[in-house]
Amino acid sequence: MSNQAPIGFIDSGVGGLTVVKEARRQLPNETILYLGDTARCPYGPRPNEQIRQYTWEMVHFLLQKKIKMLVIACNTATAIVLEELKAKLAIPVVGVILPGSRAALKVTKNNHIGVIGTVGTVKSAAYLKALKVKSPQTVVEQLACPKFVPIVESNEYRSAIAKMLVAEGLAPMKNKQIDTLVLGCTHYPLLKPLIQNYMGESVNLIDSGAETVGEVSMLLDYFEIAAISTNKKLAHQFFTTGSPKLFREISEEWLEVEGVTVEKVYLEE
Ligand code: DGL
Repeated sequence: MSNQAPIGFIDSGVGGLTVVKEARRQLPNETILYLGDTARCPYGPRPNEQIRQYTWEMVHFLLQKKIKMLVIACNTATAIVLEELKAKLAIPVVGVILPGSRAALKVTKNNHIGVIGTVGTVKSAAYLKALKVKSPQTVVEQLACPKFVPIVESNEYRSAIAKMLVAEGLAPMKNKQIDTLVLGCTHYPLLKPLIQNYMGESVNLIDSGAETVGEVSMLLDYFEIAAISTNKKLAHQFFTTGSPKLFREISEEWLEVEGVTVEKVYLEE
């Protein structure tokens, strides 16, 4: 496979764009192929078997496009399908949970870490396990925030309603004495200003997706598959199972680029 082949990113919707934004900044030679399963978002409340099936459908789609690496830019899919994908695929597979956990352990001073995520991620306790394995004395507070993903998907993440829902959703975390909060869902960084405002400046927010790009970069070097700089414009491609218009609006605003082309795809039911 050529080093110039694209890196594939998957998410249940637009959340993985928070990972793409960081990838474009840190790895400007890499071509990005992104698939968001917006039509079936959110994944968070779904049974594990369904999340597994949907994730595999996205993976099959991207494998046909000859990706050289797969980034599961979705915590819920990482929690449930990462190990299986790593075992079965011939290309490197990166999830978002371990990089997020490492970053949290690096910055916490009081070993008291909060994790917010979807119902699926919290139920899997994937962050709790990852943090405890590395640092057993760490106290971990988990909280599911199921109302956050729909605000982001509907492009209302800057609204007054968003502010209210963030405050309401985070209330149980407010007095837990945490000094670090992992944004354990790739949609949440779009709500970062509201989350920071509510939790206060003294709480470190960890963007698990952005942390993942460091790992992607390291693996590209390790497997000697990093793309080299050429004069050609990179052919990034974005696919969604939902509305290309809404996807384009959110991606252009979030990635701060114009003329993003988004194609609609249909995955098997
Ligand atoms: N962005 C995803 C995550 O990181 C999934 C959100 C959802 O579909 O519920 O967990």
